[in-house]
Amino acid sequence: MEGYILDWANLLLRWLHVITAIAWIGSSFYFVWLDNSLTRPIDTGLKDKGVDGELWAVHGGGFYNPQKYLTAPKSLPENLHWFYWESYSTWMSGFALLVVLYLFNASTFLIDKNVYDMSPGAAVGFAVTYLIVGWVVYDAICRIFGKSDRTVGILVAVYVAVAAFVACHIFAGRAAFLLTGAMIATIMSANVLFWIIPGQRKVVAALKAGQPVDPIHGKRGKQRSVHNTYFTLPVLFAMLSNHYSMTYAAKNNWLVLIMVMLAGVMIRQFFILKHKGKINIAWPAAGVACLGLVAFLIAPQPRPQVAKSADGDAAATAVSFVKVQEIMNTRCVQCHAEQPKMMPTAAKGIKLDSADGIKSHAQLIYQQAVQQKAMPLGNVTQITDDERALLGQWFEGGAKTTN
Ligand code: HEC
Repeated sequence: MEGYILDWANLLLRWLHVITAIAWIGSSFYFVWLDNSLTRPIDTGLKDKGVDGELWAVHGGGFYNPQKYLTAPKSLPENLHWFYWESYSTWMSGFALLVVLYLFNASTFLIDKNVYDMSPGAAVGFAVTYLIVGWVVYDAICRIFGKSDRTVGILVAVYVAVAAFVACHIFAGRAAFLLTGAMIATIMSANVLFWIIPGQRKVVAALKAGQPVDPIHGKRGKQRSVHNTYFTLPVLFAMLSNHYSMTYAAKNNWLVLIMVMLAGVMIRQFFILKHKGKINIAWPAAGVACLGLVAFLIAPQPRPQVAKSADGDAAATAVSFVKVQEIMNTRCVQCHAEQPKMMPTAAKGIKLDSADGIKSHAQLIYQQAVQQKAMPLGNVTQITDDERALLGQWFEGGAKTTN
């Protein structure tokens, strides 16, 4: 019952998280596009009002004409719309999901003893610390080097790469990718909470009081907001990566994470320039090349054949199905059975406690346990390399269920 309730919590939180994230990133993409697509007004009336850029758009049956004021309009309207709930609700639903999925199941999801052996309590502590330190260091970089956009940009990029490396050396691959994404997403939300919105509030307060506006607030907000723009694609990859064990279970998974995030930044760069009317194909080309290189580097290698008979007859090395069942029973059924011991219900609905179950999932077993070594999860059941090789041989020999 507890598992069932957790599954619902998982579903509802994930649903909410995706919806809020669409709203946040959607509005953020929209404003980046809008800002970069504005044109100088021709109308003298608009210029006199202080309008610096405007845009005409048609959408959903109506015409829209957003206008941007250089500093601010002469008098502030009563109703000023702020954008922050999209960000806060994305962070809150994401954090809740992290708690329900990863922190509650630290021993299976956060820990991989082959990466770093630690207690579940320590793993939870590390995960939370990772998010907090992630923000503190990033914020310090911006405070100290904030005068130069370029220096800050380079330092932040290097910092994210180092953080990805660290995560991949503490947590199980799946969690490491997710936590790196969560760390960057926390930075994005904290930027909104601690800098962008307070800066805007100060500007509005100064305008209302008829005082001069300190341009530093606008500059700071802009810098953080630019970082957020470049963070979006890397974060989305990190969040989706846990469905693709070929990425997080790869040998040098930290490098995979960094390279895919880098590809995301390069692709985003193309769109940012495109909004300004500059088409530079080199950016997405470099991004795609980077992805291609990753795909090439982590492609499954053909395994060396074990003990072939002299005439190379594969049948002579056919693996008995009893052995396969034995491996399933000792290493997999803990989580993949009608009533598994380590999970509330069969993980991903995959049951390996019957010959039929094993047969029908042969391809996936091969992929997950032999090629990518993503299963058993965090190798909690300590499968050996020989056993993996045996499963490989069984599959390559036709995955027979007769002996
Ligand atoms: C500690 C629990 C645990 C153990 C032990 C375990 N698994 Fe899994 N397995 C999971 C979980 C959790 C998932 C779902 C992962 C996800 O949501 O992507 C999963 C998913 C899978 C999938 C589906 C992957 C996909 O993306 O479609 C396969 C296949 C699989 N496991 C095979 C195995 C095999 C084979 C073994 C034994 C060698 C094994 N598992 C041992 C927990 C476990």
